[in-house]
Amino acid sequence: MKLAGKTALITGGGSGIGLATARLFAAEGARVAITGRTAEKLETARREIGAATLAEAADVGDFAAFSEAVSRVAEALGGLDIVFANAGISASRPLGGTDPRQTASWTGKGLQATRRTRYPAPRS
Ligand SMILES: NC(=O)c1ccc[n+]([C@@H]2O[C@H](COP(=O)([O-])OP(=O)(O)OC[C@H]3O[C@@H](n4cnc5c(N)ncnc54)[C@H](OP(=O)(O)O)[C@@H]3O)[C@@H](O)[C@H]2O)c1
Repeated sequence: MKLAGKTALITGGGSGIGLATARLFAAEGARVAITGRTAEKLETARREIGAATLAEAADVGDFAAFSEAVSRVAEALGGLDIVFANAGISASRPLGGTDPRQTASWTGKGLQATRRTRYPAPRS
């Protein structure tokens, strides 16, 4: 197993790409934590991935709440080896129908929160 003994935080891990990644990481031996805004969705995903999975409801656009969630997860897992900053909105629009300001806001918030949050140093 490629990730045996590793810990991973996956934002937006309650569905889609994040959930698929969480499943794969857990199958490869990692202890996984997932975040997202919808507690029920996270709980369903947590059960599916495995009982050892942690789930924390937090909006990446809310810097204080997201930072606190990261701290709790890092403490519970004894540190973080991997952070997958995946949370965001997936929306398909016809080319030409996309508003660049909207796109910047969708992706920018998640990336800003990820960059500003103080993550623990990866364990050696
Ligand atoms: N699918 C594609 O073709 C594609 C292409 C390019 C990029 N992406 C990017 O890849 C990522 C995942 O896409 P996906 O297709 O897997 O989308 P998805 O199924 O909608 O999953 C996105 C996840 O992020 C969570 N989320 C959204 N906004 C959040 C916020 N502000 N704070 C915390 N969690 C949030 C959602 O849960 P809640 O709503 O419960 O918070 C959801 O579980 C997104 O960032 C998307 O922009 C996707």
